Amino acid sequence: MISRPIPTSDEQIPVIGLGTYSVFDVESTADEIAARKSIVDMLVAEGGSVIDTSPMYRRSEKVVGDIVKASNNRDALFLATKVWIDGREAGIAQMQQSANLMQTEVIDLMQVHNLRDTDVHMRTIRDWQEQGRIRYSGLTHYRADALSSLEAAMKKTQPDFIQINYSLGEREADQRLLPLAADMGIAVIINRPYQSGALFGAVRGHDLPEWAASFADSWGQFFLKYIISHRAVTCVIPATSKAHHMRDNLAAGFGKLPDSATRNRMVEFTANL
Ligand SMILES: NC(=O)c1ccc[n+]([C@@H]2O[C@H](COP(=O)([O-])OP(=O)(O)OC[C@H]3O[C@@H](n4cnc5c(N)ncnc54)[C@H](OP(=O)(O)O)[C@@H]3O)[C@@H](O)[C@H]2O)c1
Repeated sequence: MISRPIPTSDEQIPVIGLGTYSVFDVESTADEIAARKSIVDMLVAEGGSVIDTSPMYRRSEKVVGDIVKASNNRDALFLATKVWIDGREAGIAQMQQSANLMQTEVIDLMQVHNLRDTDVHMRTIRDWQEQGRIRYSGLTHYRADALSSLEAAMKKTQPDFIQINYSLGEREADQRLLPLAADMGIAVIINRPYQSGALFGAVRGHDLPEWAASFADSWGQFFLKYIISHRAVTCVIPATSKAHHMRDNLAAGFGKLPDSATRNRMVEFTANL
C-alpha cells in the first residue's frame, strides 16, 4: 500500500485506515466482534494499520480492544483515539480509560477531539509522550467552520497530527489548512471522506466516467483517491461495518493516483452531477 511519512518522525503510515464512528459501536458479542475483526484483519493483510476511535464513539474503543486481544496483533496496528472532556484530571482519567479499553499500554496517537479544552489536554499529552505512554499528539475537527480555530491551535500547540474533513463534497481545507499543515510539518488524517456516506447518494444512478478507469474501479476508490492524491494528506479513515466495503476502500491505497489536471476534472465532474 502507498504510505506517507509522519513529518515529525519519518515513520511511514499507510494511506488507507479505518474509522469507527457508529460502525464499531456494538455489543461485544462473539458475532459482532468476529464481523469487525474480519474487517481489521483485512486492513492489516493489505498493509494498513491506522484505526481511529474516540470515547465519544461509545462502545467503539472497547470493541477495538477486544479485536486487539483476539488478534494478538497489537504491533501491526496504529491506534488513534481522542480525549473529549473538560478539565485536566477528567482528561487524564479518560486517556487512561482509553488505554485500558483498547488493551494497550501505549497509544499511538492521542488527539484532542473537536478542540475541546485543547491547551489543558495538550499539556497532558506532552507529558505522556515524554513518559512513552503516547507516541504522537493531534487535534481534530470535522467542520469547515472550525478550520480557522484549528489553524490557531496548530500554531499555538504544534501537534504531530491534525485530523480534518476533506472530500470531493467538502473541499474548504485545501484553501489554507492543508498547505499550512504541509509547511508546518504536521501529518494530516482525513475524516468524513464520504461525507458520512452522502457522497454515494450524490452519484447514485451515475456510472464512473471512462477517464477514471485508469485509477478507480468504484465510486469509493474515486472519492478516496481524490483525497490521498493531495500532497499534504497522510492518511484517510473511511468508516465501514462491511467487509466488501473495506476491500473496496483498501484498493484505493494501490495503483495510480490522479494528477492535478485530473483532480480538477474530478471536482468539475462531481459538481455537475
Ligand atoms: N471530530 C472528529 O474527530 C471526527 C468527526 C467525524 C469523523 N471522524 C472519524 O472519521 C471517520 C470517518 O467519518 P464518518 O464515519 O463520519 O464517515 P465516512 O467514512 O465519510 O462514511 C462512512 C459511511 O460510508 C459507508 N461506506 C464506507 N465504505 C464504503 C464503500 N466502499 N462503498 C459504499 N459505502 C461505503 C459506510 O457504510 P457501511 O458500514 O455500510 O460500509 C458509512 O455509512 C469516523 O468513523 C471517525 O473515526 C472524526
